[in-house]
Amino acid sequence: MKVLVIGSGGREHALCWKIAQSERVDKIYCAPGNGGTSLVAENVDIKVNDIEGLLNFAIDNSIDLTVVGPEDPLAMGIVDRFEERGLKIFGPNEQCAQLERSKSFAKQFMKKYKIPTANYMTFDNFDEAIVGLDDFSYPLVIKADGLCLGKGVEICNTREEAVQVLEDMLKNKKFGEEGTTVVMEEFLDGIEASLLCFVTGNRLFPMESAKDYKRIYEGDQGPNTGGVGCISPSPLFTKELKEKVGKEIIERIEYGLRSEGMDYKGILYIGLMIVKGEPKILEFNVRFGDPETEVLIPRLESDIVDLFERTIDGSLAQSHIVWKEDCSLTVVMTSKGYPMDYEKGYEISGWDKLDEDIILYHNGTKFEEGKLLTNGGRVLSVTSLGKSLDEARGKVYSNINNIQYYGAYYRRDIGNKSI
Ligand code: AMP
Ligand code: GLY
Repeated sequence: MKVLVIGSGGREHALCWKIAQSERVDKIYCAPGNGGTSLVAENVDIKVNDIEGLLNFAIDNSIDLTVVGPEDPLAMGIVDRFEERGLKIFGPNEQCAQLERSKSFAKQFMKKYKIPTANYMTFDNFDEAIVGLDDFSYPLVIKADGLCLGKGVEICNTREEAVQVLEDMLKNKKFGEEGTTVVMEEFLDGIEASLLCFVTGNRLFPMESAKDYKRIYEGDQGPNTGGVGCISPSPLFTKELKEKVGKEIIERIEYGLRSEGMDYKGILYIGLMIVKGEPKILEFNVRFGDPETEVLIPRLESDIVDLFERTIDGSLAQSHIVWKEDCSLTVVMTSKGYPMDYEKGYEISGWDKLDEDIILYHNGTKFEEGKLLTNGGRVLSVTSLGKSLDEARGKVYSNINNIQYYGAYYRRDIGNKSI
């Protein structure tokens, strides 16, 4: 069969890498892809939000299955468009994608179905938002309602900061239409964990847990990024916590989807904050996470194409999703300056001289005249499995120095017990 993967990050490289292991797959295309995906798939120069272009490509090339990586095309209704034309596609439809598309929609859903989350209020008017500040204490979290490439969340320590953020978002339209509504919510002090689930027939099938390292600097300091390291499983995810999440979160989301008549198919990524042992939802994403995918995929024993198809046709059961016992760890190498301004186009050396048990996923690279060049803020995810987290960690850090490019940066504390 022929598979089309949409996207261009480490997530999509990991998906292509795993799809390539399926005996049923003859050909993989990745649109637009990156240097890494070109090693396992054929890159196609179509942008992720060019729905018409992707649709025409899938029809012209008799694609049997399309897998959507990023949220943008999902929010634009790519799944509805493909299904109208009778094409098989993995991902939620436009209605379900609202759980990521709109934070106020997601919060309303959680409130209605009593799913634990931070207390909140929504505003689209500056003056009302200022009055609303009196109902919160500090730190206070203010979020733009829409998709802002992970930049729409501000943690304010003082009223002055909060007023400035509200002014930026509601008056100066910093995020354009995506930020004309804001969600104001209580700050949750805890430890984050990511739980990705396959969803079909109003049922959630959780994957193994993961912990994403979001801050750029060691010791969890500095600004938030898309994620610069990840481990799986999350040591926080004990049997007790799993049970609690099952009862208080999974079952209630299932009930909510059923009650709302939402025919959700695809991945639901639940971003959790564990506050003194109590799980609360920070956010929903309607897609695989990045770098979560880079640690989950190597642990997955099952044929992923089979899981995609069973999700689409509704025949998925938890027993189909089989995991390796191993732990997994990835360290993301970034460009100098990321997550702020950075330059790209620097040659990468040593990437082809790593130990055999290192898996190198490319986040932002491209090949030009036989050379591998940096092509993004996040560049490479150096990944390994191990019998323990320490073993996986040792393998990654003893290899990562072999990879060199101008301004290469990575955290040295991914998987440290104290973080
Ligand atoms: P979100 O896009 O909603 O997941 O927010 C991005 C990041 O901001 C999260 O991964 C957290 O690190 C942080 N964050 C969001 N909401 C809260 C909250 N209510 N309390 C504390 N931190 C938060
Ligand atoms: N790692 C965070 C995300 O994929 O949104």
